[in-house]
Amino acid sequence: MSNIEQTLSIIKPDAVERNLIDEIKFILKKNNLNIKDSKKIHLTKDEAADFYKVHQSKPFYNDLCSYLSSGPIVVMVLEGENAVLTYRKIMGATDPKNAKDNTIRKLYGLSIDKNSVHGSDSKDNAKKEIDFFFKY
Ligand code: CMP
Repeated sequence: MSNIEQTLSIIKPDAVERNLIDEIKFILKKNNLNIKDSKKIHLTKDEAADFYKVHQSKPFYNDLCSYLSSGPIVVMVLEGENAVLTYRKIMGATDPKNAKDNTIRKLYGLSIDKNSVHGSDSKDNAKKEIDFFFKY
């Protein structure tokens, strides 16, 4: 049975800065994730803090919010078969050092902070994160 889902993807400042938007979008499409919506934005630090509020108790929270708001990002709604899990596999492990070959983070990630992309970790969070950026 088919299970078409949506998930949220962010191309982070390190990847936008290195002109990797088209390459990353190509990888998504090649893996049957349709880009339903996409926009380039530049968050304020307060907006980044709101987006990442699930991490507010973590020691890296402040740096994370500063980083996400340090330059333009691309936010996208991806749609496809098991999109949440499919996209997480294509992204690879959070720390590029631990990511498998040919994943986006292995190919392009620079460090655990500058790991090029973000993706929702569950269907519930995907809905929340899509609503955060795209008010349909
Ligand atoms: P992301 O998938 O965007 O979700 C939260 C981000 O926090 C994560 O990617 C990393 O870029 C960043 N981060 C920084 N330090 C850590 C850490 N020690 N563990 C997990 N995530 C971290």
